Amino acid sequence: MKKINIAVDGFSSCGKSTIAKGLAKELGYTYIDSGAMYRAVALFAYRNGWMTDTTIDEAALQKHISEIVISFETAPTGQQETYLNGENVEREIRSLEIGNGASRVSTLGFVRKELVRQQQAMGKKKGVVMDGRDIGTVVFPDAELKIFLTASPEVRARRRFEELQAKGTPVSYEETLANVIERDERDTTRSESPLRKAPDAIELDNSNVTITEQLQWAMDMFNKIT
Ligand code: C5P
Repeated sequence: MKKINIAVDGFSSCGKSTIAKGLAKELGYTYIDSGAMYRAVALFAYRNGWMTDTTIDEAALQKHISEIVISFETAPTGQQETYLNGENVEREIRSLEIGNGASRVSTLGFVRKELVRQQQAMGKKKGVVMDGRDIGTVVFPDAELKIFLTASPEVRARRRFEELQAKGTPVSYEETLANVIERDERDTTRSESPLRKAPDAIELDNSNVTITEQLQWAMDMFNKIT
């Protein structure tokens, strides 16, 4: 059967990766977490001292942006892990600090340009499910299936908080909610590729929908168009 590309966009922590990974597994497609790529850029900037919690040395980051090579490998657990210039950075990039840094570097046009170039190359042969904020609008505007997920900020903060707690990250629910709201604001108001639903995307509010129901819904959408 002819392969297609699938775009899954939406707000922070609304379960994009769960539905995207589920679809990829079901269809035998490649899952790509575009947010992990922005997180890897933030980590790279922090480590080199070009970024602090309040500042970014844009000139230095721009000068070195083409040195960043991001790749994904599947661990023996079946979990996909992110590599920055050959180093496994999966654990490090999942902190709230790096998430916030990712949201900040993602406002920079030269960062988006480089990552979009790498993402489009990954989707060239089709058979990709990519999740993010601009996949249906900028990265794969011609994706055959576009899904736009939403859920209330409180539901998303609760999910993220439980995830972080399970990983042993010391954080409060209030802090997590503030982080979700801050990232929503930045993602929707930035001038470079703000988070938008593509006109041809199908929207799902999953505040009160189980993972199984969501995946079934997405598979129904896929079967309708293929
Ligand atoms: O999806 P995740 O929360 O890991 O993404 C981290 C940050 O990267 C987001 O808050 C968002 O600002 C940015 N991002 C983006 N475009 C994408 C994916 C993520 O701007 N395609």
